[in-house]
Amino acid sequence: MTSMLDVAAVSSGYGRTEVLHGVSLEIGAHEIVTMLGANGAGKSTLLATIMGVVPVRSGTIGFLGEPIETADTAAIVRRGLCAVPERRQLFGDMTVEENLLLGAYGRADRSPAALRDDLDTQYQLFPRLRERRRQSAQSLSGGEQQMAAIARAFMARPKLLLLDEPSLGLAPLMVEQIVQCIVDFRARGGTVLLVEQNARAALGVADRGYVLATGRITIAGRAGDLLANPAVQDAYLGGQGSGARAMEERIRARASSYNRASQPQ
Ligand SMILES: Nc1ncnc2c1ncn2[C@@H]1O[C@H](COP(=O)(O)OP(=O)(O)OP(=O)(O)O)[C@@H](O)[C@H]1O
Ligand SMILES: [Mg+2]
Repeated sequence: MTSMLDVAAVSSGYGRTEVLHGVSLEIGAHEIVTMLGANGAGKSTLLATIMGVVPVRSGTIGFLGEPIETADTAAIVRRGLCAVPERRQLFGDMTVEENLLLGAYGRADRSPAALRDDLDTQYQLFPRLRERRRQSAQSLSGGEQQMAAIARAFMARPKLLLLDEPSLGLAPLMVEQIVQCIVDFRARGGTVLLVEQNARAALGVADRGYVLATGRITIAGRAGDLLANPAVQDAYLGGQGSGARAMEERIRARASSYNRASQPQ
């Protein structure tokens, strides 16, 4: 596998707190890779570290064969790495279209024709955004805001897109649309790192996945293997695994005595 992104033994954190303790992961060109992990595991910190927002303390990050662990965020975006942050972080008082144009701000080709073309592409992808393009971003629904945040990232023409919990707070139909747009992006040649709490949707669309637990990668594998892994099932798929089976057996073992005790004599 030629790896597009190569994170090797990276540690980072805030102040005196180290959050990531030697995290390593690889993403190959045109892969969809998911990162699962509980609240506070360090998923968003990992994305912020890759993007140069949180400094790397030790380890290296390579993107397309070049080290980026000391590059600043704008330079990283120009190389083709772009993130959609958790909770979207749109500029609420700016219009949808202004937010999208902001996504193209740092890139090389900002000719009016190129910007118009790329806006059109986004509006074809997300027709709702075209209808709402002159509205302020804060007036959009949660799902529309997520679309706008993804469209804004696409405006940078990323090669690798990092998505931080895009399904958060969205209805199932909207989650499906987001998943579809990830699949379409890959079909157009894109590569994706998808951080998700919605493990089922994420593993459904991903080629491979990692589990991050308190700043360390604890499980890595093909998406199908993760779906079948009892530890993953218990922690992230609402308990179809060994823990849930054990509970089921405890309930079954007690059922006959419960039934006897509760029957009227
Ligand atoms: N800006 C910050 N300053 C200090 N500590 C932070 C900061 N951001 C995150 N942390 C801490 O780092 C740890 C990891 O947080 P992070 O946001 O990376 O987790 P996460 O896996 O994204 O969680 P969630 O699923 O809730 O989004 C947490 O203990 C959090 O309190
Ligand atoms: Mg997070």
